[in-house]
Amino acid sequence: MMADAFLGINILHDTSAALVVDGELVAAAEEERFNCDRHTTAFPNSAIDFCFERAEITKGQLRGVAVTFDYRQFRLNLQPFEQNTINHDDVTLRGRRKIAEDNFATWRRAKRELARSGLPTPRFMRHHLTHAACGYYLSGFDGAGVVVFDGRGERESTSLWRGSGARLNHIESYSIYDSLGQLYTYVTSLCGLYGKIGNEGKTMGLSGYGTGRLHLDDVVTFDPNRYHIDRKRMRELSRYRVPLGQLNSDSQELAYAVQKKLEEAYRFLARRIQQLTGLRSFVLSGGVALNCNANAMLAGSPDVERLYVPPAANDAGTSIGAAFVQWVEYSGKSPMVPIDPVYLGPAFDEDAIKASIVRTGLTRVAKVCDPARIASEAITKGLVVGWFQGAMEFGPRALGNRSILADPRDAEMPKKLNDRVKFREPWRPFAPSVLQEKAEEWFTPTLVSPYMLLSLTVRSERRSLIPAVTHIDGTSRIQSVTREVNPMYYRLIEEFFARTGIPMVLNTSLNIRGESIARTPDDAIRCLINSGLDVLVIGNFVIWKENINLAL
Ligand SMILES: [Fe+2]
Repeated sequence: MMADAFLGINILHDTSAALVVDGELVAAAEEERFNCDRHTTAFPNSAIDFCFERAEITKGQLRGVAVTFDYRQFRLNLQPFEQNTINHDDVTLRGRRKIAEDNFATWRRAKRELARSGLPTPRFMRHHLTHAACGYYLSGFDGAGVVVFDGRGERESTSLWRGSGARLNHIESYSIYDSLGQLYTYVTSLCGLYGKIGNEGKTMGLSGYGTGRLHLDDVVTFDPNRYHIDRKRMRELSRYRVPLGQLNSDSQELAYAVQKKLEEAYRFLARRIQQLTGLRSFVLSGGVALNCNANAMLAGSPDVERLYVPPAANDAGTSIGAAFVQWVEYSGKSPMVPIDPVYLGPAFDEDAIKASIVRTGLTRVAKVCDPARIASEAITKGLVVGWFQGAMEFGPRALGNRSILADPRDAEMPKKLNDRVKFREPWRPFAPSVLQEKAEEWFTPTLVSPYMLLSLTVRSERRSLIPAVTHIDGTSRIQSVTREVNPMYYRLIEEFFARTGIPMVLNTSLNIRGESIARTPDDAIRCLINSGLDVLVIGNFVIWKENINLAL
């Protein structure tokens, strides 16, 4: 029997699948968690299979499938793509052609996979529509101005939309020549930070070290109703290029300059969409919307009544958007929004966890009744704790179910984490998970940041108390946690607060550098064995590293 079920598939990078059944988002996952290739371009077969498994329906029962990019439009647009796209390390025409060819190879592969997948024939949806739908419908707002910005869609790089009840209408767009996403990625590459897609957050972290010596005023300009990017001037920035991994002070200044320009563009677009819609509720989506500094700047602006950025603002989230659009077209109704559209991935019961522990032959294991208390005690004692609970998060952040947790009071903790587990650049900040109702005592302005997508300012008198999560510029990219959304994680932080007076813990994703975030108990245990984690709290089990001898 047919179900009112709709599947969305992202086949670009950060490939993913999401399933909406009877208007409810019931499952979503990114393929990288299955194939362990970060930002993977592989067709999301495993993520699709997981969605059906979780929803307990079969492929044959689907009412519709949509892919989040319309390659027919893209093909028409190939020439400007070649002329325009910046291959991050090779700006020659040959280099840019290669990117175009790679994209078409992905497309051909996806077509083959779709043909043999057993799925109904898919629709190909406008990429920015799927970003906009992901953000708007998850926001739960009745009406909002929606801004989508990313590297590029088929023909556009920034688009403005109006959400009104269940309707989502396009207003205006910017071509791929005015891509804020590509500008930011280009600067990331000039700073020697590119390496692989998704490193733009490093540029944002680096911008905290700039002083304002450089500016990009001739690269990005503003008319009353449009912004423009001067590609020639943009390319001239190549004089600042440094090799991969070799930052210098120009890199810091360039990062600062592009960040400031992006924030100016944010303000401009907010004004513009307000002018066009009369609304003061905004939704941001697309990869650019992962910029926590700019998001916070906008969210704190007096012109903005409410701002929503979905947890997977990047391409991963487009699969959710494509499933939503199909549901809305079919039913005429908005989808139902879960209390927190994050914990949508695979979960493992006690038997599965136990089996995994037995398989690995680990012996220093205890079963406990209150894992949150044990974990908070271990953090208080300076240990680095792996924390694996419930369903896996969807989106680029670990939000308390697949996390590494540590003491935010310890100024040496970032170094310890980098040396032993994460191996990240020493200048990159770590972030805290904070009890929501305590956040305003520590951070300003008062904003809710459930998905770690806003950088707030740590109150100056408190900075010395939480050095491990305070960035050089005094900011902190917080996750505000509520009991309703994640009761177990909330309890852990509450316990830590009761012991220390600090209502937050340092939270970074449960993975080792270069690997994707842990999905299964096996992944988490491998992380414990192969890295400097001291203890892993997984379901109701606590597993100690061999050299740790601490009774809790
Ligand atoms: Fe995108």
